Amino acid sequence: MDVTATIVLGAQWGDEGKGRVTDFFAESADFVVRYQGGNNAGHTITIGERVFALSVVPSGVMYEECVPVIASGCVLDPAVLLEEIEMLTREGFSPERLRISSNAHLIMPYHRVLDGVMELYLGRNRIGTTKRGIGPAYTDKYQRVGIRVQDLFDPRIFREKVEAALEDKNKIISRVYNRLPMDPEEVTSRYLEMADRLLPYVTDTSLLLWNAIAEGRSVLFEGAQGTLLDIDHGTYPFVTSSNPTAGGALIGAGLGPTAIDAVVGVAKAYISRVGSGPFPTELFDEVGDWMVEKGREFGTVTGRRRRCGWLDLVALRYAARINGLTHLFITKLDILSGLDTLRVAVGYDGAGDSYREFPRQQRVLYKCAPVYEELEGWSEDITEARRFEDLPAAARRYIRFIEETVGVPVGWVSVGPERSQLVVR
Ligand code: IMP
Repeated sequence: MDVTATIVLGAQWGDEGKGRVTDFFAESADFVVRYQGGNNAGHTITIGERVFALSVVPSGVMYEECVPVIASGCVLDPAVLLEEIEMLTREGFSPERLRISSNAHLIMPYHRVLDGVMELYLGRNRIGTTKRGIGPAYTDKYQRVGIRVQDLFDPRIFREKVEAALEDKNKIISRVYNRLPMDPEEVTSRYLEMADRLLPYVTDTSLLLWNAIAEGRSVLFEGAQGTLLDIDHGTYPFVTSSNPTAGGALIGAGLGPTAIDAVVGVAKAYISRVGSGPFPTELFDEVGDWMVEKGREFGTVTGRRRRCGWLDLVALRYAARINGLTHLFITKLDILSGLDTLRVAVGYDGAGDSYREFPRQQRVLYKCAPVYEELEGWSEDITEARRFEDLPAAARRYIRFIEETVGVPVGWVSVGPERSQLVVR
């Protein structure tokens, strides 16, 4: 597929395997752009024996010709970014092509502290955040008291902004949450020390991308988290604080909708979720354990065990609509090999009604029972399949059933973690 301006995003609750998908597209992309979120994301990329976990730098960094971009809609923890840059340099990659928007907001130490203590105080009602300070950083952005990357290069303004922020945050940290207040001077000097190292990467990324698209270069927009974690369209409040959906790519990158050619939704052949929130097809039995163990469903960022369940096509149809998906990329089909029967949710029953579309009311999602279609499984090892015809008939039927129900063609199916373990339609 020509990737002139393509958005690749998660069509479920995140952890769909987007890392390997963007890595695949990045091979032919000139730019790979992160448009929202921060180091709450985790991308695992396997190259031969080597496994890399990236949380900030876009996966395009693995390719020599590709420019990785952190756009305006992101929140950036500069210390984590610098650590990743060091790791990549040590491993033989060249991160100097990285570009960072001067408009991106900074994750500050008080954001991390607040994320942690707020979760603690929520107790049973906690969201299960990654505790990276994402929510509090976006809160400040919308409250218009955030500190942006560009502020790092004006020490006087930076100091003033940190002092003003801590004036308020310190009261909350100490009086509400009973923690030690932070020293504005210490925070300021710690951040300003990093400014020089960040400066070479900082630019107007909207202009950079606009020019790139005008020149016909290929630009890949890489969503973090997933559709159902979108602050507006996900399972609120158990969501992240930004818009991973396709609209978020435009806002976050600073481009208009006419710039985009294709939107690829990445979905696992089953489904998983980390953190709290409703999950109609969640499994608590040995099949769920099978998915966790065989699929190695543990968080890249926090190491948490992911909740797993049958593929939910009600949710996937919803993702197709919200994002205007043009293609689906199904990952981890190999994990289902060996199960006699596969189930996929095609509707929900509950609260006295039945649903074909994703329910508007969150309480329905908690109470409903999925309506399953049963499909025959396959026992063959499919990890060597490279063409659609190589897959067993039952696996082909599974994929066809997904595209017919969702109404979006499946362009790729991954059958293992390696770059080469891919079926291209
Ligand atoms: P936050 O993004 O750290 O505020 O966490 C909010 C919710 O999004 C929690 O349920 C997290 O588990 C979830 N979340 C955040 N980032 C990811 C991700 O990359 N994959 C899957 N879930 C995520």
